[in-house]
Amino acid sequence: MKKYEEKKFTIGTLTGLSERQIAEHLKLYAGYVKHVNLIAENVEELSSNSEKNAYLISELRRRFAFEFDGMRMHEFYFESFEEGKREHESGSTLGAAIAEQFGSFDNWLTQFKTVALSRGIGWTVLSRDPRSGSLINHYAGDHELGHLAGLDIIIALDMWEHAYMIDYTPGEKKQYVEAFLSNLNWRVPEGRFNRET
Ligand SMILES: [Fe+2]
Repeated sequence: MKKYEEKKFTIGTLTGLSERQIAEHLKLYAGYVKHVNLIAENVEELSSNSEKNAYLISELRRRFAFEFDGMRMHEFYFESFEEGKREHESGSTLGAAIAEQFGSFDNWLTQFKTVALSRGIGWTVLSRDPRSGSLINHYAGDHELGHLAGLDIIIALDMWEHAYMIDYTPGEKKQYVEAFLSNLNWRVPEGRFNRET
């Protein structure tokens, strides 16, 4: 299997998210990349006797989804901060699609925040269903549970406590969500939406 490389992100000073918070979070991301590769190596080794190691291999393959999605979701997340904050543009193709499907940008935002502030750890995601063209706000538990098959991820907001606990307490989750949104470079989700249209 292809070996995955840790991506380097160019993230400047953020508002409401400290350098230390981002640095510690990036270390966790690096761990996911490392474990994706480690699991792949282990599976390869165990496959030399796949009958004897069948249970181990299948457990590792399940574990792989956690590590792989942990890696990929963090890439979606950190990319959103690259090149600094850019406001949402209502005239963009994504802006127009949000307004059309949710009635207004504010309606979408309210719904997205509600999903983010629901209980539990995981990811709040805005995805696009390429078959129907729908935009959907949804939640993925852990990293890999509850993803909707075949959807393209447009925005991924990390709602694990490790994403904010250096800067905020668990009771201040709302401020963290606001901080994420206020630092978002909207060119990134717009780029994903346009690539995938
Ligand atoms: Fe995270």
